[in-house]
Amino acid sequence: MNIGIVGSGHIGGTLAAKLAQAGHDVAVANAHGPQSLQTRLATMGNGVRAATVEEAERFGEVVIVAIPFGQYRSLSPELLRGKIVVDTGNYYPQRDGNFRQLDDDSMTSCELVAEYLQGARVVKGFNALRSDVLRDEGKPAGTPGRLAMPLAGNDVAAKHVVSGLIDEIGFDPVDLGSLAEGGRQIQPGSPVYPARLTALEMMQRLAA
Ligand SMILES: NC(=O)c1ccc[n+]([C@@H]2O[C@H](COP(=O)([O-])OP(=O)(O)OC[C@H]3O[C@@H](n4cnc5c(N)ncnc54)[C@H](OP(=O)(O)O)[C@@H]3O)[C@@H](O)[C@H]2O)c1
Repeated sequence: MNIGIVGSGHIGGTLAAKLAQAGHDVAVANAHGPQSLQTRLATMGNGVRAATVEEAERFGEVVIVAIPFGQYRSLSPELLRGKIVVDTGNYYPQRDGNFRQLDDDSMTSCELVAEYLQGARVVKGFNALRSDVLRDEGKPAGTPGRLAMPLAGNDVAAKHVVSGLIDEIGFDPVDLGSLAEGGRQIQPGSPVYPARLTALEMMQRLAA
């Protein structure tokens, strides 16, 4: 699959390497442009190339957004319309500035992203594990103790695709529901964030 990744830092860079290892073609972009990515690319292995943000948005059948949450309005709703967009962002007001709907908890951060990216098939995912866990702790399906990775979204088919990617990089996908409900369960402050838990442990903690 062609995967575009906007953001080449802890999460974007780690996912680029993992997804390329799993056999996908990955175009990764950052804020400073493709030239600035050359050294970092060498650490990501074959199958990853540097791109502009616009190129990554055009290239991906799935586009992963791995930039500070507060930057989401720099994405292109036009280029992302109809695509599966994975929002990995977490809202930290001290970094991102204040968003009223998040401070009063009337919306989740992924709902805000989906509202802005009208027509994109937004899935929240890859946001509830630290990047070093993502990098080092993936295991083959069926391995005892395999960690869970929660996801949320309103588009069931899009979640199915993202669940497949999660499984390929070594984690058990756990669908927590819509962007409103599930999104709320996997943002900072929830009992399963950060979620270094198995799928069973995650479901038990959410039920408690
Ligand atoms: N770090 C974690 O363990 C972790 C875990 C789960 C979720 N998250 C969330 O994932 C998101 C990314 O975090 P991170 O730790 O990967 O951040 P990071 O290491 O600081 O990397 C951020 C990346 O985003 C790029 N960027 C910033 N603004 C951009 C823009 N407007 N357009 C294009 N690229 C832009 C930066 O480009 P340059 O390199 O050119 O500056 C950089 O490559 C955040 O919302 C964070 O809260 C992080």
